[in-house]
Amino acid sequence: MSEATGKKAVLELDGKKIELPIYSGTLGPDVVDVKDVLASGHFTFDPGFMATASCESKITFIDGDKGILLHRGYPIDQLATQASYLETCYLLLNGELPTAAQKADFEVKVSQHTMVHDQVSRFYNGFRRDAHPMAIMVGVVGALSAFYHNNLDIEDVNHREITAIRLVAKIPTLAAWSYKYTVGQPFVYPRNDLSYAENFLYMMFATPADRDYKVNPVLAKAMDRIFTLHADHEQNASTSTVRLAGSTGANPYACIAAGISALWGPAHGGANEAVLKMLDEIGSVDNVAEFMEKVKRKEVKLMGFGHRVYKNFDPRAKVMKQTCDEVLAALGINDPQLQLAMELERIALSDPYFVERKLYPNVDFYSGIILKAIGIPTEMFTVIFALARTVGWISHWLEMHSGPYKIGRPRQLYTGETQRDIKR
Ligand code: SDX
Repeated sequence: MSEATGKKAVLELDGKKIELPIYSGTLGPDVVDVKDVLASGHFTFDPGFMATASCESKITFIDGDKGILLHRGYPIDQLATQASYLETCYLLLNGELPTAAQKADFEVKVSQHTMVHDQVSRFYNGFRRDAHPMAIMVGVVGALSAFYHNNLDIEDVNHREITAIRLVAKIPTLAAWSYKYTVGQPFVYPRNDLSYAENFLYMMFATPADRDYKVNPVLAKAMDRIFTLHADHEQNASTSTVRLAGSTGANPYACIAAGISALWGPAHGGANEAVLKMLDEIGSVDNVAEFMEKVKRKEVKLMGFGHRVYKNFDPRAKVMKQTCDEVLAALGINDPQLQLAMELERIALSDPYFVERKLYPNVDFYSGIILKAIGIPTEMFTVIFALARTVGWISHWLEMHSGPYKIGRPRQLYTGETQRDIKR
């Protein structure tokens, strides 16, 4: 529990003073508990939750000014370069990095749940082949609610824990199938002898005609690191959506489907797909100056730039850029879009318009270039983000259900019609 500091904020309203308790966490700003404002007949007002802490959490800490991102205290650059994604999943879910034995046990547990009920594969046929894979993911993940009746008692910690394993294990299978369906290839089933990222790329690109398909280890390593860089990020829009859905007692599959829906937006997880489309539209370095003028006229946004929290660099973007250089070098790819992206970054980091607004590359700016090099089609970029963020969403869902919580129910500033009567 957070520590009451003993300090109080004093709010003077209509000549009355209200004392509001202040709490401290272990890192980050203190918080003012404003619930007593209600007794004064007022609501607090914070559209977009710019200054609102919605909950207490021990999972992830972000310092936007210092460019710090910690998962259970470990810096993201250390996890991305020294731990596997599954080790990071274990850390997010359990609070500690696994021992060798715990890691082996967790990997076996996950691999034993990568299959989905065969009826789930039938859902895909209800979609048009040109459906966006995110539309498919919202549907099929939510539909998992119909398959695990005997493990959906959210008050039962064992049910909660097996659900977390199932979601981490099955999301790559469902994600790969959302791609296979849209390209008209048969579904490829998971294998127990492959690592998590290898298995995903195998299900994405193997075909029955190529029985000996082998995943390039360079790509598997890059994929695993991209998953880690997207695993969790505090109370972002999609995680807050999962918590809000979870606060009603909704089943975890429905909550994760709600998170996938929220992530899809171009202001959030949809930005990685939007970055590649933006680079395609700009076309060449010669067009950058004109494009930047459009940005300054607010006709378009520079996708992959800016962040609600990071007003300095996004530490994930730094690791992503390093990974981008490593993957393109290893594959011998000289992608002109990388040069274009670097020119955009160079200009943005020196242009007063961006500097004044503290706009820096975020996690989505370079990820698309790596995903393209791995062979992932653009419309699958946000699916990859959803796949990786599922462990973050379910970690927050577990944390919320591990103690007392109230249904999330914000109020409003009403500016509509005052009461009037129908006169006929
Ligand atoms: C993710 O929250 C998270 O943690 C999210 C995430 C995670 O891991 O979960 O980190 C993942 O969503 C990363 C962000 C991906 N989105 C994009 O790259 C889309 C482009 N970025 C913007 O839409 C925007 O920067 C947001 C949505 C990310 C943040 O918006 P804010 O905090 O509400 O900031 P704002 O819109 O109030 O912008 C402040 C100013 C405005 O200009 P003025 O009105 O002051 O003149 O900066 C401008 C904005 O117009 N601005 C941009 C811009 N982002 C903000 N101008 C041009 N291009 C941009 N990208």
